[in-house]
Amino acid sequence: MSQNTTVPVNVGLVLDINGEVGKVALSCINMSLSDFYNSNSHYKTRLILNTRDSKRDVVAAAAAALDLLKNVQVQAMLGPENSMQTNFIIQLGNKSQVPILSFSATSPSLTSIRSPYFFRGALNDSSQVGAITAIIKAFGWREAVPIYVDNQYGEAMIPSLTDALQAIDTRVPYRSVISPLATDDQIEKELYKLFTMQTRVYILHMFPSLGSRIFEKANEIGLMNKGCVWIMTDGMTNLLRTLEPSVIDSMQGVIGVRPHVLKTKALENFRVRWKRNFLQENPSIVDVELNIFGLLAYDATRALAEAVEKAGITSFGFDKTNVSRNATDLEAFGISQNGPKLLQALSSTRFKGLTGDYIFVDGQLQSSAFEIINVNNGARGIGFWTPEKGLTQKLSSNSTTKSKLKPIIWPGDSTSDPKGWEVPTNEKKLRIGVPVKKGFSYFVNLTIDPKTQEPTSVTGYCIDVFKAVIQELPYAVAYDFVPYGQPDGSSSGSYNDLIYQVFLGEFDAVVGDITILLNRSNYVDFTLPYTESGVSMIVPIKDSKKRNAWVFLQPLTWDLWVTSGCFFIFIGFVVWALEHRVNEDFRGPARHQVGTSFWFSFSTMVFSQRERVISNLARFVVIVWYFVVLILTQSYTASLTSLLTVEQLQPTITDVKMLIKRGDNVGYQNGSFVLGILKQLRFDERKLVVYNSPEECDELFQKGSANGGIAAAFEEIPYGKLLVGQHCSKYTMVEPTFKTAGFGFAFPLHSPLVHDVSKAILTVTEGDKMKEIEDAWFKKHSGCPDASTVVSSRSLGLNSFWGLFLIAGIAAILALIIFLAVFVRQHRNVLKNSESSLLSRIRIFLRIFVSKDLSAHTFKDKGGIQVHSMGATEASPDSRYPASPSSYSQHADSHFGFYGEQGTPRTEYGNSNHNPNSQAQAPPEIVSAVELTNPDQEIARSPQVVRENN
Ligand SMILES: *[C@@H]1O[C@H](CO)[C@@H](O)[C@H](O)[C@H]1NC(C)=O
Ligand SMILES: *[C@@H]1O[C@H](CO)[C@@H](O)[C@H](O)[C@H]1NC(C)=O
Ligand SMILES: *[C@@H]1O[C@H](CO)[C@@H](O)[C@H](O)[C@H]1NC(C)=O
Ligand SMILES: *[C@@H]1O[C@H](CO)[C@@H](O)[C@H](O)[C@H]1NC(C)=O
Ligand SMILES: *[C@@H]1O[C@H](CO)[C@@H](O)[C@H](O)[C@H]1NC(C)=O
Repeated sequence: MSQNTTVPVNVGLVLDINGEVGKVALSCINMSLSDFYNSNSHYKTRLILNTRDSKRDVVAAAAAALDLLKNVQVQAMLGPENSMQTNFIIQLGNKSQVPILSFSATSPSLTSIRSPYFFRGALNDSSQVGAITAIIKAFGWREAVPIYVDNQYGEAMIPSLTDALQAIDTRVPYRSVISPLATDDQIEKELYKLFTMQTRVYILHMFPSLGSRIFEKANEIGLMNKGCVWIMTDGMTNLLRTLEPSVIDSMQGVIGVRPHVLKTKALENFRVRWKRNFLQENPSIVDVELNIFGLLAYDATRALAEAVEKAGITSFGFDKTNVSRNATDLEAFGISQNGPKLLQALSSTRFKGLTGDYIFVDGQLQSSAFEIINVNNGARGIGFWTPEKGLTQKLSSNSTTKSKLKPIIWPGDSTSDPKGWEVPTNEKKLRIGVPVKKGFSYFVNLTIDPKTQEPTSVTGYCIDVFKAVIQELPYAVAYDFVPYGQPDGSSSGSYNDLIYQVFLGEFDAVVGDITILLNRSNYVDFTLPYTESGVSMIVPIKDSKKRNAWVFLQPLTWDLWVTSGCFFIFIGFVVWALEHRVNEDFRGPARHQVGTSFWFSFSTMVFSQRERVISNLARFVVIVWYFVVLILTQSYTASLTSLLTVEQLQPTITDVKMLIKRGDNVGYQNGSFVLGILKQLRFDERKLVVYNSPEECDELFQKGSANGGIAAAFEEIPYGKLLVGQHCSKYTMVEPTFKTAGFGFAFPLHSPLVHDVSKAILTVTEGDKMKEIEDAWFKKHSGCPDASTVVSSRSLGLNSFWGLFLIAGIAAILALIIFLAVFVRQHRNVLKNSESSLLSRIRIFLRIFVSKDLSAHTFKDKGGIQVHSMGATEASPDSRYPASPSSYSQHADSHFGFYGEQGTPRTEYGNSNHNPNSQAQAPPEIVSAVELTNPDQEIARSPQVVRENN
């Protein structure tokens, strides 16, 4: 009989026995004990349960605990059920050194009692904030409102939750605290309050009894519609099964977090056995499911039984030596003698329970994974969260899926992720303040109905940008423009005042030409700027180019001039070389030939040369040269035109220091912060002139500084651009630019819109939209040409033309080489003739070169006529060269007769010029040379030559 050898150990159990959680837990504890001692029948100790009902009451629980300690002298205690009850019992346990093992008190505040005799066989509520914030971070919600029950259970998690939210930059704009005793009316009132706020992310932390009422009310009010986000803690998620179906219906789309329990075979076995057991014990309760508290109670009981066995408890009873006789009831229990031993044993207990590894670290179970569920006709698992891996769809696998959670069906049966906030209150539009001012109406322009004094339209560049930006937002934002002005059309205050109205809550935003400034940002949050930023100086410009008598030289640089000149001479020479043997026009006395060549070459400049070019090589050279000349002259013309016509506009003033030194007047826009900058630059305040509109500014410039006008104006770049655009040939913006942040929209501090609007501004400015808007407002008002279209009027240099010269040079040299090659080949006999000396041979060769090529077709016909007309008297063909001045007519009419008649006087001239072909000096060798070279052609003529020469 083993029972005889066992030692019974009294332990207490305080539970709400009539509650469902209590019933389930109790049955689990009983099963745990029988399971444990069935499998460990050799153990010497047996736990004897002394169960007390805490009657859902803190005092009843305390009384029960006291009774157990004092009268039963229990060695340890299980329970109680909730944190409020547990709080005092922990103190009792600490005092009497009786370990308290709770499996359902989750409030983190219990830790602060710092009792070594308190063991938490459950996860504390703070361990789930990681999972909650991970969800919020995953969807990028920037604000969240915790709704929690106003007791120790509810509020103890809030510090760690807000800390965690702060760490991910999610604001907690409001905390909704609901009394555990709240009436439906109070709940409704509180929820309506939430409804008027813009945040739509709620974190619900309470027991199911209160939570289900809140969900039902929220559903009625419309807080369960599309766009809302509800996240509930394990307080409700754990007990989802216990909720009424109607409550579940109103909770569609809610996300829940709960500790994850691995579905093992042992667990499933236990569930089946438990169900059967439970039904036997409670035949009236049919629809009950095993919950996590039952499992934790099962494991806690096992841990306690194990620890008691391990502690080897032998003696019982409390040491009451130090208890005074006069002590009240509350103090009248002694100190458990086994307390420290049991404490030791419990701390080192470890086993694999139904809920996983059961180990106490600092008296607490260690959290593992959390399961995330989506209420969707029951709980649907959508993912897991672990401290190490964060959100994952599956716990085991290394998550490679991109989305961290499975698709979620949000409240309102929506599948698109809620943005987490809404424009506050029903149908309320944003009140957007716009500045009222005269002048610079391109930025913001109000049209006010004179009858009703209501603004009929608000237009302008800033307004268009704002509208474009709002369109880029992923959600609709309703707004009204509210002018910040008096009924008479004047402004109600400065821009700073307008900004301050946002701070006061008069406006939900301000749109206009609002410069982002440091001290403004103390009162509002600015979006990113949508304009270029900075303050620039605007000064008049004047034409700086000097035009003198030598302007015609300016288009080309000197090296181009020199190169062109050289090429004219070179081409002249090449054409002469190629032409003079065959072309009458290039013949005559040497001086004349030189003159003709250069005349020919230079007149190509204006394409006025009249000399015919006969040889193909020369034609080739000339045509290439024509091309070069054409381009050169065209470029020259263009460059000269631009030099003479395009103004070279230069700012009159380029330096702020110069302005200050000269004491010129300086203008700035009325009400602008530019005044501050000017003061900083130490401008004399008497020299500062205010203007209200671009027109006024222009007028001041016209007057000039001496007459009370201004010499320069300081303006933000957008205004400056407008001013310069309207009077483009008159003003320009010059350095230096003073840095400012540009124009932005102003929203209340911490407005969630700022981030989204800034992002939308980037979308607009980075796209084509911004250019369109800018063009629409500023381009059409300015008649300025684009700066890029202004012709550059630099001198043309050789570097832009050397290619042309290269081509022309190569063509010319090639032609020359071919010509010489052919020539040398024709007359190589002369060189080969070994009879005469080398010198004389070269001389003869050169003579042939400079002489006419009688074999050329140009001379064939003419030659015949000449011979006939001149007869033996003037046979030299060269005698015709003086005719070249008259060659115009010759070319046109071929008046050979006229030629012949004039021949006589020129013959003498030619002879006196030592014409190598003149009959007197012509050596006899020529005859043979000619005969040898061109036997066929020259045969007919040779007698004449012979005759002439003789
Ligand atoms: C077993 O227990 C019974 C009653 O509790 C007692 O009469 C009997 O002597 C015990 N036997 C042994 C071996 O201790
Ligand atoms: C709650 O549990 C977490 C995880 O086990 C632990 O880090 C934290 O210190 C606990 N907080 C309190 C107040 O006990
Ligand atoms: C009883 O009190 C005395 C002195 O107050 C102390 O030294 C002793 O340790 C106490 N005994 C117990 C069991 O606490
Ligand atoms: C108990 O109370 C009585 C009278 O009230 C007093 O005389 C006595 O000293 C007290 N004893 C102790 C141990 O405090
Ligand atoms: C910014 O600072 C100036 C003084 O430098 C002050 O006059 C002005 O009121 C400040 N702006 C706001 C919005 O308070």
